[in-house]
Amino acid sequence: MNKSIAISPGKVILFGEHFVVRGTKAIVAAIDLYAKAEIEESSWPSEIISEGTEIRGKITQELKVVGSKELEPFARILSVLKNWGFQIAGFKAKISSEIPMSAGLGSSAASAAAFSLSYANLLGYKLNDKELFTLSHEAEKITHGNPSGVDSAAVTYGGILVFKKDVGIISKLKSLFSDKYSLIIADTGIKRSTSVPVRDVLILSEKLWPAVSLIYDASDRIVDLANEAINNEDYETIGTLMNINQGLLNSMGVSSLELEELIYRSRLAGAIGAKLTGAGKGGSAIILAPSNKVDNILDRIKCCSKWASRIKISQEGARII
Ligand code: MEV
Repeated sequence: MNKSIAISPGKVILFGEHFVVRGTKAIVAAIDLYAKAEIEESSWPSEIISEGTEIRGKITQELKVVGSKELEPFARILSVLKNWGFQIAGFKAKISSEIPMSAGLGSSAASAAAFSLSYANLLGYKLNDKELFTLSHEAEKITHGNPSGVDSAAVTYGGILVFKKDVGIISKLKSLFSDKYSLIIADTGIKRSTSVPVRDVLILSEKLWPAVSLIYDASDRIVDLANEAINNEDYETIGTLMNINQGLLNSMGVSSLELEELIYRSRLAGAIGAKLTGAGKGGSAIILAPSNKVDNILDRIKCCSKWASRIKISQEGARII
């Protein structure tokens, strides 16, 4: 094969971000915004271009990056494949993405998954889900330092998942969202790195653990109740639990004025649940609303979002196209 293309969905965390880093459960969903990796055989040094960004550069045959340091995660993927015994070949890759970067929507995990799948396919190998998860997660360790793996699980497996660090997927939930209820993502447009809020939450939790451990327990209970509510299609309860989850995240210092504005405007316009999604301190909010309120909500938040849109769950994870 001399050319290969793969896509990967982005993700939203519905419940339990940050707390999942210290071992409580989270619920994550793959979404219908995609990253794409088009790769063709070429000579060394290999070239990676990320369309629409300044991220571009070369990777030498010794797997050293020349150019944007954002290419380090891709070099890591190549080095893991090499350790697994693959004969690494030179290539030219174009990464493009509908998923806004640094917005809490899994763009880095999705690009890593699409790249891994596409590159292995170019070498004539079809990665299984476990291998794909490992490669995306290894890349995330370079990007974020201390990832739980929740983003990589969502982009690999698709659907709605209950996830626990070091355990993996506990269950795959049935598809949510009838015609009557919709999910909206609203991006504050404020970009931030995931590693900083993750580090800050860990520092806070260590400093005040006797009090903060109760917040972690509350998050774990919320996930259990949300799991049940999703199975029962009890949207009102799902929404209320999202709001409580937002309170917990706010108490850990990862909300922001811009996120709170989106969240409160959405609730006032008819949302039944709204919270930040991902690492917070900027990035995006996820909003659950009766479908007949969506237009009103989009209208009320357009003042304070870079973009906002109804989204659907992607049942499938990353795949060759
Ligand atoms: C980032 O999408 C989710 C966090 O919980 C970090 C992680 O779990 O790796 C903030």
